[in-house]
Amino acid sequence: MKIKNIKSKKLFSDAKKLMPGGVNSPVRSFKAVGGIPHFIAKGDGPFIFDEDDNRFLDFTCSWGPLILGHNNKIVKDSIKEVIEFGTSFGTPTRRENILAELIIEAVESIDKIRFVNSGTEATMSAVRLARGFTGKDLIIKFEGCYHGHADLFLSNAGSGLATFDQPSSPGVPQSVVDSTITLDFNNIKQVENAFKKYENKIAAVIVEPITGNMSVIKPKNDFINGLRELCTKNNSLLIFDEVMTGFRVKHGGAQELLSVKPDLTTLGKVIGGGLPVGAYGGRKEIMSFIAPEGPVYQAGTLSGNPVSMSAGIATLKQLKNDKVYSYLNEISKYLSDGLKNISEIHSYPLIVNEFCSMIGIFCTDNTVNSYKDITKTCIDNYNMLHRYFLDNLIYFPPSAYEALFLSTKIKHHHIDHVLDTFNKFCVEQKN
Ligand SMILES: Cc1ncc(COP(=O)(O)O)c(C=O)c1O
Repeated sequence: MKIKNIKSKKLFSDAKKLMPGGVNSPVRSFKAVGGIPHFIAKGDGPFIFDEDDNRFLDFTCSWGPLILGHNNKIVKDSIKEVIEFGTSFGTPTRRENILAELIIEAVESIDKIRFVNSGTEATMSAVRLARGFTGKDLIIKFEGCYHGHADLFLSNAGSGLATFDQPSSPGVPQSVVDSTITLDFNNIKQVENAFKKYENKIAAVIVEPITGNMSVIKPKNDFINGLRELCTKNNSLLIFDEVMTGFRVKHGGAQELLSVKPDLTTLGKVIGGGLPVGAYGGRKEIMSFIAPEGPVYQAGTLSGNPVSMSAGIATLKQLKNDKVYSYLNEISKYLSDGLKNISEIHSYPLIVNEFCSMIGIFCTDNTVNSYKDITKTCIDNYNMLHRYFLDNLIYFPPSAYEALFLSTKIKHHHIDHVLDTFNKFCVEQKN
């Protein structure tokens, strides 16, 4: 079935004359999977509707934030209520206290929090704070983890292990990434070596505790616990980038699931209920280094704005109910088990990494534990699968490197439709 996209085609053609690539964030362009993006007109529950009136079952949830589905009534009402009184004052407002309390209550490692406007701002500021607090400069990150688009993160590993990085984008000065070291995810030995080589120079290790940006990969126990031990031993800070996993995999985040306590945590996505937001928080003595309490500068005109705060509060209040997470776990398992069974029946190479409403789909027979493993998977197969699902009105992420996100609005019969479609896909592949 080929779906109608006359209006999206026209809009995309116009958009390309107005904005680079016709988009305001590269992955939206469908460059990775081919074809053109669908221009979305509205969302409702588990569905998004494009300008040509196609109704897609959505597995991206705006790249994670919409854990309660599209157009959640309580969130929408909370936004309507707050905008009656204005949208921004550049002063403290009571809603900042409420959202801060909700987060601090849920995430054990956070005593104090600072709101910003995006995940990028959160990670960038957390690293500045780590450097200011420790008095050291070097940062360790991991290949395939994404921490936003600040210069210091836009780098690839240097020529040898534990050597400094190379910029991964023009415009990023070498001098900025001279303080960044990129290592392999799930390889604790490399981290040990880096700490030995750069003794007393490493300010922080930043990691997605469960990855979502090289699709979904779970950390090995020795890796995640080893990071904690090495940071503690070397007086370096462990930063968990939970922009994606925070309030998505569990109320207390990936850190609660993994039972590992970071020094700093970055958040975004879910805590803004679909509006722009970011945050970073951690132990009191570290957070007190932030201005105006301490010397590390960080500010924001619209930070903590009442509209984002309100949507965040309305979202997090609904997530206090444990049943939300047990339902999301159940429905995610139903989808991933179904995909695995069908792929086995048809001997179609597929690995499914499922982790509490985040699902990674890899077109390969081999286990996927790191970025290098993903580069060996068949991206063309993922792209074919993506196209097939899209033609059947199922919206999977338009890139093999991105995770699927489920919302509470996805029900068993929706998943049955996905599984039937996948079964048909496998049958057609054989013919
Ligand atoms: C783990 C992680 N950190 C940081 C970011 C950057 O967040 P934003 O796009 O809000 O700047 C993202 C975005 O996807 C992310 O997944």
